[in-house]
Amino acid sequence: MAQLEQIAAPGSEWWRSAVIYQIYPRSFADASGDGIGDLPGITSRLDDLQELGIDAIWLSPFMTSPQKDAGYDVADYRDVDPIFGTLADFDEMLAQAHARSIRVIVDLVPNHSSDQHVWFQEALKAAPGSRERGRYVFRDGRGKNGELPPNNWESVFGGGMWERVVEADGTPGQWYLHIFDPSQPDFDWTNAEVREEFRSILRFWLDRGVDGFRVDVAHGMVKEAGLPDYAPVADADSMGGGEENVPYWGQDEVHDIYRDWHQLLAEYDGDRALCGEAWLPTLKKTALWVRPDEMHQTFNFPYLMTAWDAEALGAVIRESLDEFGKVGAPSTWVLSNHDVVRHASRLALTAENPQGEGIGPETPDKPDTAIGLARARAATTLMLALPGSSYLYQGEELGLPEAMEIPDEFRQDPTWFRTNGERYGRDGCRVPLPWEADAPAFGFNDTGDSWLPQPAEWTQYARDTESADPTSTLSLYKELLAERRARGLGTGSLIWEDAGADAVAFRRGDIHVAANLGTEPLELGEDVTFVLQSQPFDGTALPVDTAAWYTKG
Ligand code: NOJ
Repeated sequence: MAQLEQIAAPGSEWWRSAVIYQIYPRSFADASGDGIGDLPGITSRLDDLQELGIDAIWLSPFMTSPQKDAGYDVADYRDVDPIFGTLADFDEMLAQAHARSIRVIVDLVPNHSSDQHVWFQEALKAAPGSRERGRYVFRDGRGKNGELPPNNWESVFGGGMWERVVEADGTPGQWYLHIFDPSQPDFDWTNAEVREEFRSILRFWLDRGVDGFRVDVAHGMVKEAGLPDYAPVADADSMGGGEENVPYWGQDEVHDIYRDWHQLLAEYDGDRALCGEAWLPTLKKTALWVRPDEMHQTFNFPYLMTAWDAEALGAVIRESLDEFGKVGAPSTWVLSNHDVVRHASRLALTAENPQGEGIGPETPDKPDTAIGLARARAATTLMLALPGSSYLYQGEELGLPEAMEIPDEFRQDPTWFRTNGERYGRDGCRVPLPWEADAPAFGFNDTGDSWLPQPAEWTQYARDTESADPTSTLSLYKELLAERRARGLGTGSLIWEDAGADAVAFRRGDIHVAANLGTEPLELGEDVTFVLQSQPFDGTALPVDTAAWYTKG
């Protein structure tokens, strides 16, 4: 199996400072031409990622799945879904990435399986109280004949969190729990057999040579004993994170699972790492996921959720460094992923909820693309100067905006269906990437098929167009990543600087970093020499919605 040679110096684990690029396999590159991206497609584009200058890739799920939630519904954790290729394709992709000094982490989905998983199929056939039912969360219903769900919990994707089954004798039977879609039944993590199975799954991928795992729903695996009723407040964030004391998010017992996995990973060479997807109400709580014997990283969602506001942005950066620092973990930074509105659109949203519920043709007050892009470039310029590990989401290096005009008939996100079209959901950030301006499907494949339609105006964002333009977003990302690496900005500390109430400013060694989030240009002083500008400008005053790295004197 492919093994990676030690890249980082001994004692400096790679994940502390890595820039990790998220690949959403169905939308990255499609070698087979069926309109859905695949593993050979990824392999064929690794040179582009090496040229971009990232340290690692994280792959969203590519395991066997009926794709009811784009692969976050796994039917076989030890195989590759045929739409993405084969295990041999995976091994080849991994070897090719490692040959380019790119580490690979894979998505692990332990909160729930697909309803097509053999265990769930066995559970459906088995009797209440059986070993097979005990691997999932089956309960009798309330009401005279069990006709009411066991409690009042509401699914993240809309509707109730329980589905009633028909027993083997044809009568209406028990209910099973699904935080997400009914096709995603939750495992019971108090069950020893479930724990053992996942140890084995971790080993399966570690033995193949992966460098770690992004752990899906790392805050949801254990539910409060007794499953007490709970109704979220209206504006609670749907993935979690909106409120304290939610009986299905952030239960203390999840930490035992991660301590166990930490030890398992430590048996392997090469600093294998766990990164948790845990949407929690505070950074203080989030830091509990990365205590020294638990996960190595966790996503910084409070940072991602911060609106374009200097005071709020400065505060969340301070608090992140402080809280993660207290437990000896690096802070992570992230602005976009496959679940949220792309930051080149989101940062121009003026709505109360900065994430929106997705953006579609009927959304009022759509974000302004030019303002969004300027802010996105500035936000990334600031982010990549911060100490710690940063996550990038495929396409943000091109400055891609959210696809806001996807016609209803193309939508695939279960959120759209479960809410009867009330919430557009996440398809707008999942549209296949444009590689070449003048090719079919913008070079995503050579047949022109694309599982979600690509906006015609994306020709301007195509990688070949941007490669040729030194002022493009792609050129900016390449410069940022090269300078970050050359100057070792992923590690170390920062010193805050005062540039006024509308700016965020700090110093990393002799590099000064400032972002202008206000409404007036910000004079930086006569003696500045710019290393990098988030968008080109003359003179020494930082324009609105712009960030820069510079030296003084
Ligand atoms: C979080 C994933 O990022 C999201 O895409 C998915 O729908 C849910 N977890 C359920 O697995």
